[in-house]
Amino acid sequence: MALLDEKVAIITGGANGIGLAIAQKFAAEGATPIIADMKAPAEGNFFFVETNVTQPASLTNLVDQVVAKYGHIDVLVANAGITEHKGPVSQLDEENWNAVINVDLNGVVLTNKYVVAQMEKQGTPASVINTSSILGVVGAANSQAYSAAKAGVANFTRSQGVTYAKTKIRFNAIAPGYVNTALSKTLPESVTSTMAERMPIGRLLEPEEIANVALFLLSTALTGAVINADGGYTAQ
Ligand SMILES: NC(=O)c1ccc[n+]([C@@H]2O[C@H](COP(=O)([O-])OP(=O)(O)OC[C@H]3O[C@@H](n4cnc5c(N)ncnc54)[C@H](O)[C@@H]3O)[C@@H](O)[C@H]2O)c1
Repeated sequence: MALLDEKVAIITGGANGIGLAIAQKFAAEGATPIIADMKAPAEGNFFFVETNVTQPASLTNLVDQVVAKYGHIDVLVANAGITEHKGPVSQLDEENWNAVINVDLNGVVLTNKYVVAQMEKQGTPASVINTSSILGVVGAANSQAYSAAKAGVANFTRSQGVTYAKTKIRFNAIAPGYVNTALSKTLPESVTSTMAERMPIGRLLEPEEIANVALFLLSTALTGAVINADGGYTAQ
């Protein structure tokens, strides 16, 4: 039996990058990943529901479609995100501020709202992972909406963890450093090498490494399994 057999996992922003790596990792462990994105997945054979995380009606449709097809939702990875126009606050582009806050913070909160309501009804073990960022933890120059949104995601997640502590729903946030996704591949080498230098590990992270963290969080929150020192796991 695989670690995530019979688990149904919604992954927003799962069509590319980190979200796609998480979907692939969960599928390899027996889960049924649902890709909820504005775009179809770049690769793989996943159940895809076209979704805009800023629109309540779109999220209601997502939950309805998944419950109609699979009967339950065990995992949410609220991962959809966009980047910002960088600069000092005196040059703030209000339209871009609103767009980034709307997707990166409001979108995470709204997705939690509609999916967690379904998890509450089920009453079975469930796990929510929200994607924050290193920029939500430390100060980075010229980052406005993105840093604010990602810090908001981290503390929103802490609040929900406490709120739901006596239930079977667990909340965690992941705060990746710089990751080697399609976005970073479009940047000049001078920028990516600076990003790599800022990483204690001395290189950009690979999406699969973030997917391993998501799997680790699920393994204890959802299944009670214990990860062993060799990277394997023991089911409880
Ligand atoms: N790449 C990095 O270095 C890095 C570092 C830290 C955190 N993150 C965060 O990780 C998450 C994934 O990033 P990525 O690098 O894989 O990005 P990506 O651009 O490869 O993927 C993001 C996905 O989100 C989708 N999306 C955007 N707006 C949406 C909306 N309104 N509704 C539904 N889907 C929407 C996009 O279509 C895309 O498929 C983001 O939240 C990002 O902020 C990324």
